[in-house]
Amino acid sequence: MDGQSVGQYFDDRSDSYTRDVGIDEIESSTIVDGFIDPNCTEGDWLLEIGCGDGLLLEYALESTDVTEGYGIDISASMLPDGNDGRAEYIQGSATDLPLPFQPETFDFVVIGDVLHHLVGGTRSASKGTAQAVLVEAANLLKPGGYLIVKDIYYHSPVGPETLTSHLIFYGLKYFARIAARIDEQAAPGLLVSFYTRDELTSLLSRSGTTIVAEEIEKKKQRSIPRRLLIGESGCIRLYARREERSRFREE
Ligand SMILES: C[S@@+](CC[C@H](N)C(=O)[O-])C[C@H]1O[C@@H](n2cnc3c(N)ncnc32)[C@H](O)[C@@H]1O
Repeated sequence: MDGQSVGQYFDDRSDSYTRDVGIDEIESSTIVDGFIDPNCTEGDWLLEIGCGDGLLLEYALESTDVTEGYGIDISASMLPDGNDGRAEYIQGSATDLPLPFQPETFDFVVIGDVLHHLVGGTRSASKGTAQAVLVEAANLLKPGGYLIVKDIYYHSPVGPETLTSHLIFYGLKYFARIAARIDEQAAPGLLVSFYTRDELTSLLSRSGTTIVAEEIEKKKQRSIPRRLLIGESGCIRLYARREERSRFREE
């Protein structure tokens, strides 16, 4: 699925993805309260890649010493309307590199529930795209700035740990194709590429950052068949610091 189809998917479903709370009503955020707030200083700059409704940005601008917030998202419908909020919003794809910001601009870059949407023709190509986006994100950070990645992870209970996410990727890819042959309106679903914890930590480490904190919330698989089929999954938040000297961007 190319970037445009992902954008179309979120354009069509922005009502169900954006939260019901207004931009001033959000009361907490694990990433903002638990990490950005204690690690930021007055005048810090924050970028969210795949910012959706912008609530994390607006909450950070309201409740921390961050003073400049930027959000980029592929879907215009996901972004806040007009002049809602204090952050500046840009419609664009995370994969359209380089991103429209100067290197070493931000103190924090957040990528929340977006990496699994950066898909290519194969799971391996998708992983390459995710890596390129993380390298770019790291280069947008000032030295010593923080790259924060939140995503869903899967660990297969049998065989290689990546088996579940391979099955999800290729199941969606080929099921969608079969369904579309029967009815071209069928299966307009989204192709996603999930990763294991080790894959995510390795992607982040290879972006020129060092992981300084990690949080995992395991999802309880209540039924034994799901546990056997899916294995372990959940939400992972990784907090990484950009090394002082970047070796990754060719100017
Ligand atoms: C599940 S939502 C997460 C939104 C927000 N980060 C959050 O945590 O609430 C995924 C977001 O990623 C955006 N997205 C998907 N692919 C993208 C891409 N290639 N470039 C920029 N944004 C993308 C979608 O439009 C959507 O707003």
